Amino acid sequence: MKKLFAFALALVLMLSATSAFALTIGFSQIGQESDWRTANTDDIRSKLPAEGWDLLYDDAQQLQQNQINALRRFITLAVDYILFTAVTGEGWDEVLKEVNDAGIPLILIDRMPVQETLDQIEYAAAFGGDFVEEGRRMGYWTARYLESVGRGDEEVNVVLLEGTTGSAAAVDRTTGIVEAFDNYPNLKIVAQQTGNFTRAEGQAVMESWLKSIDKIDVLLAENDDMGLGAIDAIKAAGLVPGVDIIIVGCDAVKVAHEAVFAGEMNATIECNPLYSASVIKVIKGLEAGEVYGRDVMHPDESVYDAVGGIPSDESGELLSILVDQDILDTRQY
Ligand code: AHR
Repeated sequence: MKKLFAFALALVLMLSATSAFALTIGFSQIGQESDWRTANTDDIRSKLPAEGWDLLYDDAQQLQQNQINALRRFITLAVDYILFTAVTGEGWDEVLKEVNDAGIPLILIDRMPVQETLDQIEYAAAFGGDFVEEGRRMGYWTARYLESVGRGDEEVNVVLLEGTTGSAAAVDRTTGIVEAFDNYPNLKIVAQQTGNFTRAEGQAVMESWLKSIDKIDVLLAENDDMGLGAIDAIKAAGLVPGVDIIIVGCDAVKVAHEAVFAGEMNATIECNPLYSASVIKVIKGLEAGEVYGRDVMHPDESVYDAVGGIPSDESGELLSILVDQDILDTRQY
């Protein structure tokens, strides 16, 4: 009897100790539009449960209303933390205030809501790529690459495949590209249109540009998937991608590295999708009473290309990294 009591007591203690650490985290994800997104989702979905936490995952399929519904469901379920990335920048004030009123700590990753919303809400921490800087790097890489091949004074026609309209990633990358190009009046954006961050739409938009625009020298694609779709369109039009049209993507996913290595894409600007380590660290810190600032924390990111050594930021200090077999072999996603 005594033994049974001791066993029951040990079990109760063990269960209460476990429940003190068993957190439930709701993750409202945008969708599955790109290889970057797949890497981002897989990273969170594999690493957070490995901590012994319950992860409630919701795929909004690119619809803001689905994200709003998911956030409200997480509130009803009284989760311990909410992880959130905003498909587009506007329209979150009401639901994020509801999250705040419910007292659930909000961790923002990847795409942020617009600054006016950020100013009005509470959030425990924020991690995301510096999208304006990524855009600048696309612009500076292009200008300096053209200079390096003796085309620095040429009138160059650029087409710009933009990401999802109104998303932080698209708005900010376009801002960065335009800012860099302001220093190079010979680089002219002759067409810009959304390809929604997908391969299929990137291909369709490029097909129509190839029919309607006489001279395209450079394609800037605000993610690699759209760039790869455009490469299919360029090949179908009988042109050689990477030679007849210079192609610069963004994300630096493995398939883009392969395209750079094959000479079909000239460069890709990195956007790091792996946030799980930062998120885990912050949740553990919050549990221990740490407080994090309101600044968005950016991961380290590089620029990869087929030549190496091209100055890729405003100061000219960041030099692109040559994609070689070693990089291809070690790229995780
Ligand atoms: O928000 C990050 C962007 O979203 C990535 O560049 C793109 O591939 C994704 O869909």
